[in-house]
Amino acid sequence: MSDLQNDRVKPYAGIEHAQRIGLGVEQCAERVSRFGYAAKQLMFAQAGKMSSVANWEFKAMVGRGLWECAQHWGQWRARIGEMRGHEHLIDRHAEGPLYDLFQELLHSNGDAEFATGLYGVILPAYRAALLRYTGETNPLVDQPTVRLIRHMVLDLDDHLAFGETALAAIEPAHRATAAAWQAHLEQYLAAAGGIDGTSERLPSFQLPPPRSQGDFRIPGDYARDARFATTLPKINPFDNEKVHEPLLSKMWVRSQEMTAAELCATVLFEWDDLPYEGCLDLARHCWDETRHGLFGQAALEAEGIPLETLPSWVGYAKHTMPASPPKRYSHLAIATEAGLMRHPGGKRGEWEWCKDEAKHPLMTTYQDFDWADEVNHVAYGREWLIRYYCKGDRAKAQAMADETVAERLAYYAQFATPADAR
Ligand SMILES: [Fe+2]
Ligand SMILES: [Fe+2]
Repeated sequence: MSDLQNDRVKPYAGIEHAQRIGLGVEQCAERVSRFGYAAKQLMFAQAGKMSSVANWEFKAMVGRGLWECAQHWGQWRARIGEMRGHEHLIDRHAEGPLYDLFQELLHSNGDAEFATGLYGVILPAYRAALLRYTGETNPLVDQPTVRLIRHMVLDLDDHLAFGETALAAIEPAHRATAAAWQAHLEQYLAAAGGIDGTSERLPSFQLPPPRSQGDFRIPGDYARDARFATTLPKINPFDNEKVHEPLLSKMWVRSQEMTAAELCATVLFEWDDLPYEGCLDLARHCWDETRHGLFGQAALEAEGIPLETLPSWVGYAKHTMPASPPKRYSHLAIATEAGLMRHPGGKRGEWEWCKDEAKHPLMTTYQDFDWADEVNHVAYGREWLIRYYCKGDRAKAQAMADETVAERLAYYAQFATPADAR
């Protein structure tokens, strides 16, 4: 016997509309396959574009967006497997109008067009399709999907709130081209029948000619907006020998980790046969390095030093982009990060120094989490470069990483810079 008034307690585990007829499993699985494909392509499109986005704030948001979309993709992969389907149903859309839509998105020119495609066309359509699904499916039989969507929409609402600021910031001179690009992409979306395929399809012969002619290629440079003065060699503007400057020097080094994030994004986009789990790790690695860059920016800002007053290092693109994606990744995950695990010194040493020597609470927090993230990055390198790519041959992976170090030294040899600036 319960000591509650039974008829006052909410029924059906708090789920409303339990008697809605809803959609069938097959219909749901079809939509879920399209959502999975959209999430996957949102991850890849942001990975492909991140390094060429120039605006610093937009670049950082793309770093976050691609990781959150990578997680959504994984959730859809799992869910479709629970609906008498298979994750391969997601990849069926790789030949069809949804694919064409994302190819066009990749061929956006400049920040304004890409922001328009992402925040003005595709993400709003994806969000609307998710809400349409929850409005139509039976919320009791399909509760796992309804719950997934509720959580994803929280992420997408953050992306769209950010996106509104980017769209409002389009230079007046570029508003007309952005509007024309929006109309172009909306027609490609209409040809797909919307993200969920429920709208009437625009016949493909009515589509404007595609901008995309063949595969999208990531440019060989990492873009910065006009506020920044870029530098090819990594010359720290602060002098470690001067009082107070070692701390600022560390902040600057953190801020330049955006280049490591850009490297991860390019590897994620270009590494063809990387399994889902590898894509998820690469996406996370990218977002971690983006955050490390923002740690540096925030720490400098707290000292009254705006990031754009300091040089922005972009030479990293020059000596890593010519390498294959796994080799490029080995420069970061093996040649650089694995060495930072050694103590004394290394990542733990940086944290100890900020805590005990500099006694700087904010940098102590940043370095603490930076160290935690870096431990994971070394594990990603072990998994995807040593175990997966080199089939467990540690020496082969190390040789590949060593080659990137030699290539880096050879690249910076053209600049008269101190050895520790390379
Ligand atoms: Fe980092
Ligand atoms: Fe890292």
